[in-house]
Formats: sequence, structure tokens, C-alpha cells
Amino acid sequence: MSLPQNKILASLGTANRTARTAETHPLTWRLRDDGQPVWLEEYQAKQGYEAARKALGQMSPDEIVSTVKDAGLKGRGGAGFPTGVKWGLMPKDESMNIRYLLCNADEMEPNTWKDRLLMEQLPHLLIEGMIISARALKAYRGYIFLRGEYVDAAIHLRRAVEEAKAAGLLGKNILGSGFDFELFVHTGAGRYICGEETALINSLEGRRANPRAKPPFPAVSGVWGKPTCVNNVETLCNVPAIIGNGVAWYHALALPGSEDHGTKLMGFSGKVNNPGVWELPFGITARELFENYAGGMRSGYRLKAWQPGGAGTGFLLPEHLDAQMYTAGIGKVGTRMGTGLAMAVDDSISMVSLLRNMEEFFARESCGWCTPCRDGLPWSVKLLRALERGEGQSGDLATLEQLCGFLGPGKTFCAHAPGAVEPLASAIKYFRSEFEAGIKGSGDNRKPVKGIQPNLLGERW
Ligand SMILES: Cc1cc2nc3c(=O)[nH]c(=O)nc-3n(C[C@H](O)[C@H](O)[C@H](O)COP(=O)(O)O)c2cc1C
Ligand code: SF4
Repeated sequence: MSLPQNKILASLGTANRTARTAETHPLTWRLRDDGQPVWLEEYQAKQGYEAARKALGQMSPDEIVSTVKDAGLKGRGGAGFPTGVKWGLMPKDESMNIRYLLCNADEMEPNTWKDRLLMEQLPHLLIEGMIISARALKAYRGYIFLRGEYVDAAIHLRRAVEEAKAAGLLGKNILGSGFDFELFVHTGAGRYICGEETALINSLEGRRANPRAKPPFPAVSGVWGKPTCVNNVETLCNVPAIIGNGVAWYHALALPGSEDHGTKLMGFSGKVNNPGVWELPFGITARELFENYAGGMRSGYRLKAWQPGGAGTGFLLPEHLDAQMYTAGIGKVGTRMGTGLAMAVDDSISMVSLLRNMEEFFARESCGWCTPCRDGLPWSVKLLRALERGEGQSGDLATLEQLCGFLGPGKTFCAHAPGAVEPLASAIKYFRSEFEAGIKGSGDNRKPVKGIQPNLLGERW
């Protein structure tokens, strides 16, 4: 499927930058060509805070919720839960008047850097999205929980918050509407598990970042026991355009065949010619993303496998590139859309080494609360290390597959373990012979290990 002319969206690298418009690129049309942040004056000159004015001046909180629900906005943090439905779960009881809006800006998923771009270059878009969302949720206090390593994003967000406060866009009686909203930027200490929404809440409270058992869900008991809504950066950045332009316009953005609405920040990394992140309509094929935006593989490299949306999504083959990039479209080929930032694996990479490297990351980042995750992930690392050295035992592959089952959905308190074994299970499914070649005595026909970080952790497990 080729893109209609008005749907050719901009690369945030070098290609097509000038094609971005407010009509087609709700997230990125305000970006500057020099990559510098868009501060308040310029943001306001580009229709900034007009949607907030409309929401606070002309709409009731319930109208905002129903507009976002009708638009079909889905969470962009990886799980794709409908945002309006989540907002509707907040208690109706107005006497519970302390409630919080948390922005999940932890973004530690390997290969994912979309929220970073928004926060570093369009900090006011996130603030405007949070003001409107807070109004919908009747939340009077918000936090942006930011990955500690995102130093520039922290600086830019803090400056933007100060600018917004000085302009009467944050604080008491915003824009004369009677609505009060205070916003704080909180930097985390850099753990992947802080991105899980209830671990994030614990961390914000100053506790160890373990996920919480659910129920109760955050909408009922979140930060400091109060009703809380957690949304991803990109999710919140969609809200101003939905309020400003309406539901029909939002529905028209995606390509035919897509069941998801609007646009999505999508990307490709790995040994492609033009790694980057682009705002694209849901429904574009992965092939268009790979060939037209990422420019295909660099000379001398062949595409062997790819992941559609971060390290916690399953591997696919080149023959799956015709899948459409939206939740059910990627679901049809057996994996998840995840964060929408794809990664190319080239034919010089050993899948055993790649998975060993990935599972080391997931094992290190386990919070240790559930036994399958705490003990199962280091066990998988041990087996993968042995296979990588050509010293695997005959039952190792069966044990790895059994572990994928033990750590699958519904077996643990949070989705960390299922996300960790999804790439492993798919790699074994599609590249079984590479794993079998690591079994001692099978004859060493493993591919050379290139481009994979060596085991830096030593024999910790
Ligand atoms: C281990 C783990 C890490 C996560 N990391 C992030 C993250 O960095 N950013 C994010 O928005 N969601 C992350 N999530 C998903 C959140 O728990 C939650 O679903 C999301 O913030 C909800 O926002 P949304 O509905 O707007 O997508 C993570 C989940 C898990 C299990
Ligand atoms: S699945 Fe892993 S990260 Fe999640 S709660 Fe259990 S031990 Fe912690």
C-alpha cells in the first residue's frame, strides 16, 4: 500500500521535514528544523494552548473524557489500553477531591526514544496535554516521572513549567477558568521497572520500585492511596489536537484498514541506512517504514529479523514486513505493536548472543518479587551463555521453552516477565537451528558473534 500524498509524513531526521502540517502531524508539526526546543512564545504562535483554552473555557470534564473516548485514543506506553476508558475508571465521587495525574516518562525500553524527542523539543505540548487531561480527571496535581538519564529533557521540562506558571497556564485559576493544577518534574534513579505504572507510583512515594498487586488499581488507590491516572508522554501529547480538531478529524488520520486511530511515533534502529523516528499514520506497513523511511539495510547487510516495538516484543521475519503497523495488524503476525519503535537484526548477528544480551538486561531489571521472574530469568541467561559457548546440554532448549511458559502472561505480578520471554520464545521458534548448534557435540556451526555487547556482568548468576 502506498501513502496518499497528504499522508506523507515527516522524518525527524532529514527526509520530508517540510511536509509536516498541523492537519497531518498533530504531534510533530511544531518541531523546529534546527532541533532546538520550542519555547512558550513560539509554541503559542503555533496555536499552542488554544486547545487548553477551549477545554477549560468551553468543555465540562465529562465532555473532555467522552471526546477522548470517542476519538479512540489508545495508550502509547506499550499496552495500548483505551485512554478514555481508563479515564472513566476514576471515581465519580467528588468528595475524593485529591487525585493525581502521573505522566510516565521513564522510557527505558531498549530501542525506544520517542518520548524523549517530544519532551526535549516540545515540552509545552506535554504540559498542555497534561492540563487538559488533569481537567478531565479533576486532578489538581500532576507529576512527570522522568527517566534520570534524560538530563536535557529534565532541563527543558523544568524551564517550560516555569514559563507556563509565569504565564498563568499552571497554578491557581488557570486562564481564569477556576481550575487549579500544579505540575512537578520528578527524576527517577534509572530502573526499567520504574516504567511499570504501580512501580512508578511506589518510586514516586520514595519506596522501593516494586510493582503493586492489583486490584486495587491506581484509579482507586494510587499515589499516597489516592485516585491516580498514569499515562504515557505520547498519549498525553495526543490530547490537545483531539480537543482542538475533533473526533472526525482524528479518525481520518489513520490509513484504511487500521483499527487504531490517529498517528504514532514509529521508528527503526539497527544497521539501516536512516535510523530515526517519524510521525506516521496507523496502518502504514512495516515495509514502508523500513524501506521508505529507514532506507532499508546498509550495504553489505541483510535483514534477518526485526522487532516491531521495543525489546519486549516478539521477533518477526522479513516476510512479515507487509503487516500493517497498528495493534491488531501486528497482532495478526503473532506479536505486539509495543512502543512502535522497530529494530532490525542483520545477518551478522547470532540470535543466541542477541538473546543472551537481552535476557541479561531483563534479569538485571527484575524487581525480584515473583519467583518465576526472579529465578527464571537468570536461569535463562545461564542456559543462553552455555549455548553461546557451544557448551549447552541436550535438554537446554526444552528447558528454555518451559521457562517461556512459566514466565508467560498471568503468571507474575507485572508484565515484565512476559515481555522478557516474548523475544526469546519467538527467536527459538524462528531460529531454532542456531540454538541447537550451541549444544555440545552438535558440531560447531554457530555464526560468529558480532555487534553484541560481551557479557560484562561476569558470572553473577
Ligand atoms: C517493565 C515495564 C516497563 C514499562 N515501562 C514503561 C515506560 O517506560 N513508559 C510507559 O509509558 N509505560 C511503560 N510501561 C507500561 C505502563 O505500566 C503503563 O501501561 C503505561 O504507562 C500506561 O500509559 P498509557 O495507557 O498512556 O500507555 C511499562 C510496563 C512494564 C511492565
Ligand atoms: S514480574 Fe518480575 S519485575 Fe514484575 S513484579 Fe514480578 S519479579 Fe517484579
